[in-house]
Amino acid sequence: MSDRLVSPKMSEEEQAIEGSLRPRSLAEYIGQEKIKDNLSILLEAARRRNESVDHVLLYGPPGLGKTTLCNIIAVEMGVNLRTTSGPAIEHAGDLASILTALQSGEVLFIDEIHRLSRAVEERLYSAMEDFALDVMIGKGQSARALRLSLPPFTVVGATTRVGSLTAPLRDRFGAIYRMEYYETAALKQILTRSARILKVPANEEGIEEIAGRARGTPRIVNRLLKRVRDYAQVRADGIITREVAQAALDALEVDHIGLDQTDRNLLLTIIQKFDGGPVGLDTLAASTSEDSETIEDVYEPYLLQLGFIARTPRGRITTRLAYKHLGLDAPQGGNGLGPGLWQSVTPEKGDGGAV
Ligand code: ADE
Repeated sequence: MSDRLVSPKMSEEEQAIEGSLRPRSLAEYIGQEKIKDNLSILLEAARRRNESVDHVLLYGPPGLGKTTLCNIIAVEMGVNLRTTSGPAIEHAGDLASILTALQSGEVLFIDEIHRLSRAVEERLYSAMEDFALDVMIGKGQSARALRLSLPPFTVVGATTRVGSLTAPLRDRFGAIYRMEYYETAALKQILTRSARILKVPANEEGIEEIAGRARGTPRIVNRLLKRVRDYAQVRADGIITREVAQAALDALEVDHIGLDQTDRNLLLTIIQKFDGGPVGLDTLAASTSEDSETIEDVYEPYLLQLGFIARTPRGRITTRLAYKHLGLDAPQGGNGLGPGLWQSVTPEKGDGGAV
């Protein structure tokens, strides 16, 4: 269900509109302060040595700005960016044609890098490490291996699942950055900037209301802004205030912490059909008619961050916080795993944990 309002996945149409809202330099980029600090050193050092930037791996939930940061790396270095993705590079030959077309210093963005096939991944090792590409020419008895040298270049890999990357691939990256959910203050700044670019009148409280429901995710903040703008124009006087934002988002069933029907359904399924869990991912997927990969990559990270669900070796469980948010009484004695587990479940680090 990629058309849900709070989906961090982006449609093609959205990509075009997003272009106007995307920051083009590190100075314009709001949030992710630690990454910005480290990245600016990485880029400046490469510039001073007149070298290509070391390979960079960006990981974290969707919608937090991995692609935007990659664009910024290319812009800041004054080089071209080539974009591809793990599933798009089907054969070793596809990789060879991409790599041999690269110019010195260029950035190659590989989205969903965890989905590269093993054969392609293995070819990438020497390309990243030695800027060399081994190709086979000819067939059968007359086949020969040829080592092509490549100009220095930078791979920027992006993934929502760093755990699915093989160790040898991960080791090829000189810089590994974890993207975190944005704090409300940063989301408010992003919203203020987007409202200015889109020429949408909004006051501070209106901005705050939208930011609080955006799941710590810039892509969602910008999407909610557009829907609230529609509502303000059709049902109010065009200005986004707290009341307008509340009414618009309530109508869209995005609650005050950004959960939508799918999230609530996921939580209620664990609670009502599986007594609060533990329930395995595939069972949960079958019971909610959602795809297990989508649950894991898209819905679950924010629910984990809020501390509403937890992963145990035996599957997912809901926590007391989830019951509380849904207005349900948590069962006495916990969820069948004993009281210890209730207590050991704490939200993951970062903002967005308010209930
Ligand atoms: N638009 C989307 N993400 C942004 C960010 N991190 N900074 C500024 N504008 C943005």
